[in-house]
Amino acid sequence: MQTQILKGNVKRNIHVAVDLIRRGELVAFPTETVYGLGADATNETAVAKIFAAKGRPHFDPLIVHVSSFSMLEGILKEIPDKARILAESFWPGPLTLVLPKREEIPDIVTAGLPTVAVRIPQNKIALNLIKEAGVPIAAPSANIFGHPSPTCADHVIQDLGGKIALILDGGATQVGVESTVVDLTHSPPAILRPGGVGRESLEDILGGVTVFSGMNEEVLKSPGQMKQHYAPRAKVLLFQGKCQKKIIAAMRETINKLNKGYNIGVMVPEEMCFHFRNEKVILEGLSSFTDMNAVARNIYTKMRLLDGKKVSHILVLAPPEQGIGLAVYDRLFKAAGSQLVEVD
Ligand code: TXA
Ligand code: MG
Repeated sequence: MQTQILKGNVKRNIHVAVDLIRRGELVAFPTETVYGLGADATNETAVAKIFAAKGRPHFDPLIVHVSSFSMLEGILKEIPDKARILAESFWPGPLTLVLPKREEIPDIVTAGLPTVAVRIPQNKIALNLIKEAGVPIAAPSANIFGHPSPTCADHVIQDLGGKIALILDGGATQVGVESTVVDLTHSPPAILRPGGVGRESLEDILGGVTVFSGMNEEVLKSPGQMKQHYAPRAKVLLFQGKCQKKIIAAMRETINKLNKGYNIGVMVPEEMCFHFRNEKVILEGLSSFTDMNAVARNIYTKMRLLDGKKVSHILVLAPPEQGIGLAVYDRLFKAAGSQLVEVD
């Protein structure tokens, strides 16, 4: 199959996409977080194509994207007050809510669960596509299952070129990591996946929330939580510790051990890069950790860049786990196969 790429938020492009969605085909489209791989959420056969194209296991449920509250009413049993308040604060935006579903949403979308994950994305192309199609759009990230998520059309081509009919190209995404998934059927509400909306902002509104992060039993029971995920081909080594000097020393020691036969990539904030200038490594500077939004925006691109340079290992400094930093930390931790190199 030839994959067509159409650039910009143009009516003609949206029409081509809508036509494909109505015919049960897949369309990749930009959201503010990452690119999604969309299909008509009410069409089982179309949704099945998503799982096939991505190589995604059927036990991992999809997010259903809508463009309005009225569309939501056709999907959810009811819209509780908590959902309304969160929606008012964060939609359109990088927040996904898990709530009891109506029967109209086929089981394949929700992996047989009685709940469905929903969100209104903040991207004009995405919103026009959903509105014009007139149906909710089920969409996971538009990458091969387990790979880093795509933040530009080029990444989608790398993973799914030749497998899907169309990519709507809206340039690079603004947030760079996926939406925060919040389960509102859990009490207190539970963050199943940290993302673009920080835990602190949710707590300001909800009071307490539970975070299912790390790899405790509860997390492993919730769908879609794998020990290894969002991972580049290279082996990721995530360094964490209180003392920056010691971390740098530990990283350099690791580099010296590995340098014997490997190409090594290093991801640290720009201002720390000079510590590695004399090492035989490929440096990919991150934005300063005082600007975590910028770090988040580029994190998947940097992983893909280092993979493109054929490194065998990527050494990376763990970011602080506040705000969107928690999501960046989570993705790096999963990319590292849920392992840390702790330096004390
Ligand atoms: O930002 C995003 O969320 C992007 C864009 C395209 O919207 N989408 C995305 O989808 O990241 P995906 O499929 O890669 O991740 C969806 C996550 C998975 O961890 C899945 O297990 C969880 O949401 N999820 C979906 N439905 C669920 C449900 N009913 N209960 C619990 N978790 C659910
Ligand atoms: Mg994904």
